[in-house]
Amino acid sequence: MNKMLKIFLIAGLSTASFAKPASAINYTGAISAKRVGNINISTISPNDGVWRGVGATTVILYPQQTIKLNDAKANKLNAANLAKKVQVSAIYSSSAVAFRLVWSDPTQDTLSGIKTDVYGDGFAMQLPVAFSDPKKLPYIGMGSDGRPVVVSLMKAITAHYEPNGKGDIEHQLSSSNTVLFGDELKAYKAKVASTGNIPYVKSFISEGFRSMTEVKDGSAKLGMKMSYNPKTKQWTGVVAKSLNDGTVRLGGHGALPVSFAIWDGGKLNRGGVKNLSSWIAVKLQGKGGDDALVRELTATPSGNATAGKTQVEAMCASCHTLSDAKKAANPYMGPNLKDIGGYSTNAYLAESIKDPSAVVVPGYNKNAHKNSPWYNVDPKTGKRTSTMPPMMTDDKMINDAVAYLKTLKAGVEK
Ligand code: HEC
Repeated sequence: MNKMLKIFLIAGLSTASFAKPASAINYTGAISAKRVGNINISTISPNDGVWRGVGATTVILYPQQTIKLNDAKANKLNAANLAKKVQVSAIYSSSAVAFRLVWSDPTQDTLSGIKTDVYGDGFAMQLPVAFSDPKKLPYIGMGSDGRPVVVSLMKAITAHYEPNGKGDIEHQLSSSNTVLFGDELKAYKAKVASTGNIPYVKSFISEGFRSMTEVKDGSAKLGMKMSYNPKTKQWTGVVAKSLNDGTVRLGGHGALPVSFAIWDGGKLNRGGVKNLSSWIAVKLQGKGGDDALVRELTATPSGNATAGKTQVEAMCASCHTLSDAKKAANPYMGPNLKDIGGYSTNAYLAESIKDPSAVVVPGYNKNAHKNSPWYNVDPKTGKRTSTMPPMMTDDKMINDAVAYLKTLKAGVEK
């Protein structure tokens, strides 16, 4: 190495470490991933020896009810949902990262396809495709225009068979959907019995609800398993993902943002009705870098929540439901914010207020109420612009509003 360059590098390193002493980073609220020698993505299981001695961090997953389902029974079952505690353990190797999640669920719900109103329990892990700016992470849950996420999803289902190989198992599960009779039906059933053991593990790239694209070319290197313990009434799920594959390039990072979701089939959870976490920092033990990300995701809001409450109630309650159900705004005016503090980062909330079109909340059918859409679409470029006016420009006011919005969240289940 060139001598000058070497001196510069050493000088650079030492000033960096003087300027930002490690003790300034608050790791409370971050998940610490233990370095292990090897993670076998295809065989990893809840009981794999690789988890021995790895501690767990409690992560809270909040109910997301930004939009209502067109299903009165499901809406009723989910109206009073509490946040759920999930115990998360994390490990990483030179080529992969893996998480083990343990959560309680009173009933084991497995999608079988026999009944159409049965939904399976499930879990997912989400990673941003890029996160160079920790203040501009993708919209939580599904990604957003220009800020894609990779979702790794597993649902509990009984063995199934995909005659067409298209992955549209919802239509393949039930023999009554096959329009087959007699010997043909018999042959179909025999085929299901002999080959129907494909687990429902999928990877999606998503930039919003309308853009979920399943990764089917094998470029997502992924392994997931889930098992239910009827005695403790707990699910354990494991997910292992390659740090560098066709969907993400995470090698070289010292920390990662990750988000988890769980679905309770017993409450007819599906699609957007689920419990999910905010972006959580995962610190890779023994690796440097990405301190700004860890700081951003573990910071407590600096504003004054009491002042923020007064401002937000006066300026925002005509379009947004806040904490008081009696003063609920019409859902077509804007997303329900009653749980927003549980799954949103401080930076996302500040950005939503300052620059509403930076991330346009996906998933609302803009034709549901034509006079009051959440956003407009440019017919030429397809770009969506929020109809929320930027009403606060003063940073102190925004910080106070963020501090208040962070307090809006469901209570936590025992
Ligand atoms: C005229 C109606 C209107 C007013 C007033 C309004 N908003 Fe919004 N808001 C919207 C709409 C529509 C969206 C969804 C589109 C988008 O993402 O901007 C939204 C989205 C948001 C989001 C993102 C929600 C999510 O689920 O991710 C936040 C946070 C937010 N608004 C906060 C505020 C705050 C704070 C105020 C008051 C300063 C405010 N809004 C005033 C209509 C409004």
